[in-house]
Amino acid sequence: MPFYHKLGKIPHKRHTIFKKPDGSLYYEQLFGTIGFDGMATNMYHLHRPTQVKEIRGKKDVTPKVAVSNNMQSFRFHGFKVKPEDDYLNSRKAVLTNSDCTIYLAAPKKSVKDYFFKNADADELIFIHRGSGTLRTMLGNLEFKYGDYLLLPRGIIYQIDFETEDNRLFIVESRRPIYTPKRYRNWFGQLLEHSPFCERDLRAPEHLETIDEKGEFLMKIKKQNEIFDMVYATHPFDVVGYDGFNFPYAFSIHDFEPITGRIHQPPPVHQTFETDAFVVCSFVPRLYDYHPESIPAPYNHSNIDSDEVLYYVDGDFMSRNDIEAGHISLHPAGIPHGPHPGAVERSIGKEKTEELAVMVDTFKPLMVTEEAMKIADNDYYKSWLE
Ligand SMILES: [Fe+2]
Repeated sequence: MPFYHKLGKIPHKRHTIFKKPDGSLYYEQLFGTIGFDGMATNMYHLHRPTQVKEIRGKKDVTPKVAVSNNMQSFRFHGFKVKPEDDYLNSRKAVLTNSDCTIYLAAPKKSVKDYFFKNADADELIFIHRGSGTLRTMLGNLEFKYGDYLLLPRGIIYQIDFETEDNRLFIVESRRPIYTPKRYRNWFGQLLEHSPFCERDLRAPEHLETIDEKGEFLMKIKKQNEIFDMVYATHPFDVVGYDGFNFPYAFSIHDFEPITGRIHQPPPVHQTFETDAFVVCSFVPRLYDYHPESIPAPYNHSNIDSDEVLYYVDGDFMSRNDIEAGHISLHPAGIPHGPHPGAVERSIGKEKTEELAVMVDTFKPLMVTEEAMKIADNDYYKSWLE
C-alpha cells in the first residue's frame, strides 16, 4: 500500500539490536517486492522465519484450459459453483492468462489446518457473501459483504468464516495490484478527485503474536504448484513491523461514484490497476443529468481488452436476464453493448442500484474447464432481435 503503517513493537533504528525481555534477539526480516524497488516491510519475529522442517510434496494447480483462443461472449452462472469444505480446493479457476487468473470460490470451512502463501501473485478477494476475519502474519482484518481484501504476494494467511455460506470472487495477479496512479500525487497520496482516499483503506489493526513450536503446515503456491512445507514455529510470530507492504481491505460501498451530465466512461469506475489489467467498481449512483442523456452505455469495442463483469447486487440496467453471481465475458476483437430494449428502458431513469466488479485484461483470457461447467453457451446470441 502506498502509505506507511506501523503495528506492534519495533526498534528505534532498523537493522540494530532489538532484544526480547529475556535478553535474546528478535529476528528481523525485510519483506520486499519488485527486487528492492517495490514496497517493503520490516518485521520482527520471535523465531527465525527460515526453519523449514520438512517438504512433504507438491500438487499441480495449473488451471485446465478448455478454450484457449476465445472469440465468444459468455455468461457464467457463478453461484452454480458448488460449495466445498476446504478453502483452497473450493477455488475454481474460471478465466486465466499469463498475467492473471480469476477464481470463484464457495468455501464452507475456515482455514485451520494449514497456512497459505501465494508466492506467485497478489490476490484480490472480493467478498460477495460471508464475513469473518482474515488472519495474516502482519495482523488481522475483519471482513464482510462488499469488501475487497488485497493480499500482496507472500503474505501468509488463514481465513476464519463466520458461517458456511461464503461466495468469493478472486483475482490473482502476477503483477502487483496498486491503486490507480492518476489518483495519486508524486508522494503517493490519493488526490481529491480520487473516488476513495486513505481513510477508506483499512490496514491491519490487531497483530497476533503466537509463540509456539511444533509442526506448522504451510501451503505455498509457486509456479502453479502448491508445495506442502512444514515449519518448526508458528508463522504468526511477528511482534511488530513497519513499512508499506501489508494486506488491506476496502469496501466497494466506500467507493464514491463519479457521475456527469452524459454517460461517463468505464475508467471513472476504476479502483485498482496493474500493468496487465484494471479492476473497476460499479456502484449505486445517480444517472446522467443532461435532459436528453441516455444512461445505458453505448455499444463499444474492447479491441484491446477482454472485459469480465461480475454481477454482485441490484439491477443490471444494460443486460437482460442477468442475476447476482453471474459473470459476463466480452472478448477483445468484437463489439458488445446493451441488450435489446435496455437503451430505451434506461431513458428518464434517475439512478441505478447496480453493484458489480469489472476486470478488463489487456491480454485475452482463456476459458477453463471449470468455467465451461457453468457456462451459458448461447449467451453470444443474446443481442439478436
Ligand atoms: Fe463493456
